[in-house]
Amino acid sequence: MFHAFGDSGASNAGKYPNELRVADQVTLDTTSSPEPGRAAFLFHLGDIVYNFGEPQYYYDQFYDPFRNYPAPIFAIPGNHDSFVVPGTKAAQAPLTTFQRNFCSPQTIITPEAGSLHRTAMTQPGVYFTLDAPFVRIVGLFSNSLEDPGVISNMDKKWPAVSNVQIDFLKAQLTRIKQEKFAGAVLLASHHPPFSYSPPPNAGGTGGNHGCSTEMLRQIDMVCHEVGVYPHAHLSGHAHNYQRYTRIMEFGGKEIDVPFVVCGDGGHNVNSLVRPRKGQPPVEPVAGVDVKYLEGKKGPAKVNHLILAKYDDHNYGYLRIYVDKQYLKIGFHQVGVRSLAQSRYDMVTVRLADHHMVAN
Ligand SMILES: [Fe+2]
Repeated sequence: MFHAFGDSGASNAGKYPNELRVADQVTLDTTSSPEPGRAAFLFHLGDIVYNFGEPQYYYDQFYDPFRNYPAPIFAIPGNHDSFVVPGTKAAQAPLTTFQRNFCSPQTIITPEAGSLHRTAMTQPGVYFTLDAPFVRIVGLFSNSLEDPGVISNMDKKWPAVSNVQIDFLKAQLTRIKQEKFAGAVLLASHHPPFSYSPPPNAGGTGGNHGCSTEMLRQIDMVCHEVGVYPHAHLSGHAHNYQRYTRIMEFGGKEIDVPFVVCGDGGHNVNSLVRPRKGQPPVEPVAGVDVKYLEGKKGPAKVNHLILAKYDDHNYGYLRIYVDKQYLKIGFHQVGVRSLAQSRYDMVTVRLADHHMVAN
């Protein structure tokens, strides 16, 4: 079992209690859960330190809130952990600070940790594969734009971005195939491939962040080339919880792939829809097919894209449980009910055939 969520950083004192409530609940969840329900680690989905990954805020926004979290913390950077404000000195570049704290060659205590004892994580890079028992998590760095997420230069549209992550993803999926890895394969990116907005003729508009479908088309392309599709995709960035089921043809079979957004880790909670031009926003009905969010047709043959469930009112986090047969992704709300009753949603995927089954 492990925890995952994004967007925990509190950029001002008013947000701080919310970050602490989430950090305290995942800490309590870990310390009070008997094995095998105890989290082995936290996989942070990015936007750890606002506003832009300044070293002087790592203590307040990361080390102190998670000081009692009794397990390792891995992370992919979000846009707030990587965007360089013009005029920033090279030594203060946010990704340099991120790498010092998450991609350290040794388990040292960094200056950002102050007097606390959490050692720097020893990830090989800002994009990396975490090879854990039963699960392999391929974490991608979707770069520093507000929107969209990008993992390549897209035919030189983003010349500052290299294409190395496409090769990395291809190599990781190829390794999974060659090794006949039978565990769960998860993909993680800070920017969500899907984030809700109403259909064109409905009232209102989407939330603060949209879809990153170009990025998804590139991921789909690599998956089709190699012949391996992940069992689920995790992301943050949109400050709410959204769970989609992408029902698609892959390798001659129909598979169900959960796309889960969990970006309500403490910074903010934003509603899924907003008013537009005097039109009131129309909240979606859970279970609706939102295939229009796919945008331009790509290599994936998608039969349905279902918005299975969402929560745009509460802070929360994911509890992800994997064994030899199943992947279970649960969403837990913070401060709504007791910890034991905090689960709001859960999806179970059978690893062997990528089919959703009863929880
Ligand atoms: Fe973000």
